[in-house]
Amino acid sequence: MPVFDRDASEDSGGRDALPKLPVPNLKDTLDRYLRCMKHLLTEEQFNKTQNIVTQFGAPGGVGELLQSKLTERSENVANWVYDYWLNDMYLNNRLALPVNSSPAMVFPQQNFMAPIDSLRFAAHLISGVLEYKTHLDDRDLPVDYARGQLAGTRLCMEQYYRLFTSYRLPGPERDTLVAQESSVMPEPEHIIVACKNQFFVLDVMINFRQLNQRDLLTQLEKIVKMADNKEEQLPPIGLLTSDGRTEWAESRSVLMRESTNRDSLDMIERCLCLVCLDDASGPELSDTKRAMLMLHGGGLTKNGGNRWYDKPMQFIVGADGCCGVVCEHSAFEGIVLVQCTEYLLKCMIGSPSKLVRAASVSELPAPRRLRWKCTPEIHKLITSAADKLQRMVKNLDINVHKFHDYGKGFIKKQKMSPDAYIQLALQLGFYRCHGRPVSTYESASLRRFQQGRVDNIRSATPEAFAFVKAMTEGKNSTSDTEKMELLKGAITAQTNYTRLAITGMAIDNHLLGLREIAHEMKMGKLEMFKDEAYLISNQFILSTSQVPTTVEMFCCYGPVVPNGYGACYNPQSDHIIFSVSSFHESQQTCSAEFVKCLAQGLRDVRDLCNKCNADCAATEERKGQTQKAHTQTETKWEEKSPQRPSDLTKNKQTVPQVLVKTTDQSSVEAQTQTLPHGEAQPLSKISKS
Ligand code: COA
Repeated sequence: MPVFDRDASEDSGGRDALPKLPVPNLKDTLDRYLRCMKHLLTEEQFNKTQNIVTQFGAPGGVGELLQSKLTERSENVANWVYDYWLNDMYLNNRLALPVNSSPAMVFPQQNFMAPIDSLRFAAHLISGVLEYKTHLDDRDLPVDYARGQLAGTRLCMEQYYRLFTSYRLPGPERDTLVAQESSVMPEPEHIIVACKNQFFVLDVMINFRQLNQRDLLTQLEKIVKMADNKEEQLPPIGLLTSDGRTEWAESRSVLMRESTNRDSLDMIERCLCLVCLDDASGPELSDTKRAMLMLHGGGLTKNGGNRWYDKPMQFIVGADGCCGVVCEHSAFEGIVLVQCTEYLLKCMIGSPSKLVRAASVSELPAPRRLRWKCTPEIHKLITSAADKLQRMVKNLDINVHKFHDYGKGFIKKQKMSPDAYIQLALQLGFYRCHGRPVSTYESASLRRFQQGRVDNIRSATPEAFAFVKAMTEGKNSTSDTEKMELLKGAITAQTNYTRLAITGMAIDNHLLGLREIAHEMKMGKLEMFKDEAYLISNQFILSTSQVPTTVEMFCCYGPVVPNGYGACYNPQSDHIIFSVSSFHESQQTCSAEFVKCLAQGLRDVRDLCNKCNADCAATEERKGQTQKAHTQTETKWEEKSPQRPSDLTKNKQTVPQVLVKTTDQSSVEAQTQTLPHGEAQPLSKISKS
């Protein structure tokens, strides 16, 4: 079997071996917060915020008290932000999971010639899952080490162990991430297969023997037959899991009144994962269409009911070859999902299915259909959930774009961080589209620390703003040399922020920790966190994430605010895949337009680099030639006279010089005060360059 790029390590990457997440210095965070926000606020807003922050951070003030409590907390728990962050980011969020929260990986389009092919694919995939699960059970997954910035550090592996053993239980106010520990509950030994909105229990261990691929195919064929039986069909209960979390919690408690339903729920909640055998969804299967289908299943008329969104891993195998995986996000990050998914796909590529003949003939007990007792009340709840999902289907505006002009190979040649460069292109694209900078989120991994999840790289830096303004102002207002200097300054600022974030020194988790400690201390809502600037800082109109892959596939997710964009990117050496999402209901956004501006931005930055490189090369060449001429002249002079002519240095200075200007911080900040503010302009009102 291929499949791990790295050797299994003798160490399991356990908590003890990793440092604890540090608590940043209070003053550093408050200074950075002001710096991050200044150009995103009006002068009036900023002045007010500055006062609030100064008061909060004053010696002997409330900030210092909270900081000391937070430091105390950090000494007593493995990761001081973990619970706060999990609740804030996921479990308190009442929005429906599809599109709003659950990302999807879209696999390469499969070419299934006959219905059995999709079942073979599913059987193959399931046997990969079982093999992967064996590695998890034996705790012999190789430890991950950081790549890119500050490479080489070992990373926390905890998230992997939640892939197949956790479940997000809906709650009336807050959900719970339930982890199945083998000591508490029996290990799951079944998968739930969804087919035609029906759910079936596929036992993967029968008589102490794990089913092989052939057996799995046999069972899947039986499931398809059972699902086709119209008389046995039950209502599409799975739709309830696509509802808002509070609504689903209420529906679940209605379902729980019946013991049949309780048993069925229990089977789903304890399964390894779901495999959703989807019906074909229509003729045109572009990347964009496939991304949509992964995110919401196409609503009730397609495969929207063929899902159970609470379960972390739902593999989708469409009869039309549209395949992928949808995840409940609270248990792990996209990078862990990619590692697992790549393992499975590499397994499948490395050992093609041998199931060319008939399926297994062994007498396996038939998979069981999960039964539901549905009262009229439940029927009503299903209809209501279906309507809301349908609205979501209509609302999602997604655009998957493969940018083929260049990839990270070109960016590395510029001696720039590809991630920082792409973030700048996103800032430029957004500014072109909307004429203002906005609070931006970029996920930064904290897996260098015990129980590390993510913090935020605030990519809308003042330096990025100075750069995008220079790039979008009238043609001749800033010279290319100056633009290049602004670009370099912005790349440096972004790279520095990235390094801060991945070493636990970013501001978002810290501010969250201070806020939550204040809440625990029953201090009421502090000015600092009631302030409009704090609310604006958390309205991530641009929510971005790098999810790179080594297998052909891409990640996608929805926006996190109604008037925002979700922008996921997968940088490859010669191209970059972008998946941009927004909502049709917003008058302010349009994914296709944003993608157009983004692609134009990427081309403009490349042209700028090329032009400046060419200018540099020409300068170097001219310098070289002049040097040569001078050397020759010098030789000649030396031949004539031992005395060096006094004007030789003057001659040298006539060679054009590249302007090397350090980024002037104060001038950048002065410019930012005169910004246009307020609501984003509707696209129709924006004159596109
Ligand atoms: N010159 C040349 N090459 C450079 C360079 C420079 N100045 N700076 C960086 N590079 C190289 C790196 O060495 C690296 O090389 P590799 O491809 O051989 O590994 C490559 O460019 C990429 O580095 P960079 O673009 O700087 O990004 P990164 O890989 O360090 O990633 C983050 C930055 C923030 C994306 C990463 O740290 C992270 O946190 N990832 C997790 C994101 C996440 O959680 N996503 C899922 C959310 S659900």
